Amino acid sequence: MTALLSSSCDVRDLFALDPSRTHLSPGAYGAVPYPALEAQQVWRQRAEADPHRFHRYELPQAVMAGRHAAADWLGLPHDSMALVTNVTEATSTLLASLELRAGDEIVLSNHGYGAVRLAVDAWCARAGIVLREAVVALDAGDEDVVAAYGEQLSERTRLVVVDQITSPTARMMPVAAVAQTARRTDAMVLVDAAHGPGHVAVDIEALGADAWVGNLHKWAFVSRGTAALWLASRWRERVRPLVLGWSATDGFPECFDARGTADMSAWMVVPDALRLWESLGGWSMVARNARLAEWGQHLVADSIGVSLDSTPATPAPAMRLVPLPDGVAADEVAAEDLYEALSADSVEVGVIAWGGRGWLRPGTQVFTTEEDHVHLAEALLRQLR
Ligand SMILES: Cc1ncc(COP(=O)(O)O)c(C=O)c1O
Repeated sequence: MTALLSSSCDVRDLFALDPSRTHLSPGAYGAVPYPALEAQQVWRQRAEADPHRFHRYELPQAVMAGRHAAADWLGLPHDSMALVTNVTEATSTLLASLELRAGDEIVLSNHGYGAVRLAVDAWCARAGIVLREAVVALDAGDEDVVAAYGEQLSERTRLVVVDQITSPTARMMPVAAVAQTARRTDAMVLVDAAHGPGHVAVDIEALGADAWVGNLHKWAFVSRGTAALWLASRWRERVRPLVLGWSATDGFPECFDARGTADMSAWMVVPDALRLWESLGGWSMVARNARLAEWGQHLVADSIGVSLDSTPATPAPAMRLVPLPDGVAADEVAAEDLYEALSADSVEVGVIAWGGRGWLRPGTQVFTTEEDHVHLAEALLRQLR
């Protein structure tokens, strides 16, 4: 084995991951480290020690501290960012706040996330909204992406969704340039940054967007069910939580803080989890992950004899596409079958059918090693034989 990459030594001990399996899909649902799980358990025990007093007095303070820690880490003013459960919730929240009318238009790209698309589809069916798709080739340059969005904009456009990192194709989108183009309409520009926090460093306020939502549970080691929703100031009074409760009459972002009687311990561990992200190396850890992701991408491609020429020119740092041979996993059923076969061979990796062919989408986190990518290459060869 080359000494190309610094070893992640026993960092795996920080995670509950089953050591008998190869985990190459760390961004899909995140991996919560023990320190965050333990901090969460401490909050839960405090709640159970005195449920009445905890929920009345301690919980609001702890939620606010978590929200402020997330805003500080993302470089955002405290009054500009709320905590929500996930990007799925944020998307529905924004759709419901837009007061959409029949004939209004929403622009998404063909690289968008399936659940976001389904939420938009539901609004199209419910309210007569028109979905317009910006069709972007996998290897399109940034100018082509902007042009594809530009072609779909009109005076009826009310929402433009652009992904910071796309899910099926693991590419970075030129979000600032798309936002700039969309400025000729009065539409809300939503940046779906589900894979952003702890993966790409972004000056969120400088993007020129209206709304930005990023999961803290994918790459930033925060407990699941924690996402940051930033809004430009002109939207802060217009966007209301989906679930209205005791904080319904509060301004943004406090109106998102109360959700009835719920376990909000995930939000309380934001400070601990982000401290762990920093202590594991922060952006230098991400740079190491990106080097290993690229190395693994080439290893797997070389081992099955495919070219990487058609893959995105602006890949996500730690998630890379590997094309599968022609006809392999080329539709959703076949992709699911290959996923199941690799999973049965102890390898967890995204298998995606997109654009008429199959792709693997291995991801690399701090606990990933060279051996993990070797395991993937070997398991894939066994399936392709
Ligand atoms: C681009 C993108 N948007 C939205 C989501 C939804 O995130 P969540 O399931 O946390 O709501 C994902 C999840 O992988 C995603 O990749």
